[in-house]
Amino acid sequence: MSSANAFHDALTSRDAASSAVDMAELRRYRQGEGAPEAALESVEREARRLVLTWADGERGEFPLMWLRDHCACSDCRHPMTRERLYKLLEDPLWDRLAGEDALAHIDFDARSLTLTWADDHRSRFDAGWLHQRRPGQDLPSLLPTPTPWPEGFFPERVEHADFVGEGDGRSRWVTALLRDGLALLDNGPCALEEVSRVAESLGPMRSTNFGGRFDVRSIPNPNNAAYTAIGLELHTDLPNWRQPPDIQLLYCLENDAEGGESSFTDGFAAAEVLRAEDPAAFRVLTQTPIDFRFQDDGHDIAVREPVIDLDASGRPREIRFNNWIRDTLSLPAEQIEAWYDAYRTFWQILRRPDRRVELTLAPGQMVAFDNRRVLHGRNAFDPNTGKRHLQGTYLDLDMLQSHLRVLSR
Ligand code: OGA
Ligand code: ZN
Ligand code: ZN
Repeated sequence: MSSANAFHDALTSRDAASSAVDMAELRRYRQGEGAPEAALESVEREARRLVLTWADGERGEFPLMWLRDHCACSDCRHPMTRERLYKLLEDPLWDRLAGEDALAHIDFDARSLTLTWADDHRSRFDAGWLHQRRPGQDLPSLLPTPTPWPEGFFPERVEHADFVGEGDGRSRWVTALLRDGLALLDNGPCALEEVSRVAESLGPMRSTNFGGRFDVRSIPNPNNAAYTAIGLELHTDLPNWRQPPDIQLLYCLENDAEGGESSFTDGFAAAEVLRAEDPAAFRVLTQTPIDFRFQDDGHDIAVREPVIDLDASGRPREIRFNNWIRDTLSLPAEQIEAWYDAYRTFWQILRRPDRRVELTLAPGQMVAFDNRRVLHGRNAFDPNTGKRHLQGTYLDLDMLQSHLRVLSR
């Protein structure tokens, strides 16, 4: 066993990361959290599991099955893709892994644990990696926690030049968007398709029945309220899809018509206010699926879902709110008035000014928001007084999360 000092020296030397056992992950696990106090001190064998302790006093119980499943050797993980090749469920050792005699030999030092299995297969584990992944311990998230808007909230603004530059503008912007569900990009070029360039620097654009990238301006024969000059009350886009698009980008190219100011509110914060102020209304909106539907010559896209969808732990996961494409309300007669009452109460909370962000988009400015959390709207504008032209697209949240994880490597 190497001494704790030697371990510490290795960690503080420049090639500390490369001297770690490669666990086939790109996330850092030797430096930062888990090191150097993650020097392995002891390994004890118990029935069907190993009990490890580290220099910081932490203790972890690892079932043998888990350890065998996480072998990172090049037979068990593809050395290029890092994907798992090993099939635990087909391993002839399965019965012995569930028993006690699957291990032939245990070897460890401060930095690593090496197990030789009964079939002579050998697995090496990095001590810091094991420390971070000890069962029952949540791995620290690399992503910001979505945070309800406080009263008077105003979104983070990042300069377009900082976003496309080498600095931290991009990660500041993505972090704010994931945390607040709303972020602005300021002073970009007034160039057609800049929204597509911004979007594609983050991930593939999510296409819908309105295309991969859409123009918001008033047009003759519109198939959608957004393509008129009328005001758009706060809403979420495409609640008639089983999975509405996550992130919406709206890039302003022209906005000199009278009116057309934008507004936003945090639907999750509003749902929490509803829960606190009117629990019965909250129950109605979370437990009553209703129909949403968009129809034009080529499409008829419909779902039946509640206005407020909760996750398994009871927190809001999704808001569907769009009066234009709310379909015929199909409920038993005795539920109808209670539903409208609850819907109206929620609407009044959504419209409160204390958490409502109002702004006029400037040419070259882009707003991005989590369409499944934050509602957006605009005032009516007068197309006879000037032009208003936005270009928009959607992105999957997965791409923003991925982006932050990669940036944090
Ligand atoms: C939309 C929309 C807002 C705006 O296109 O879905 O809500 O400011 N547009 O025009
Ligand atoms: Zn292996
Ligand atoms: Zn919209």
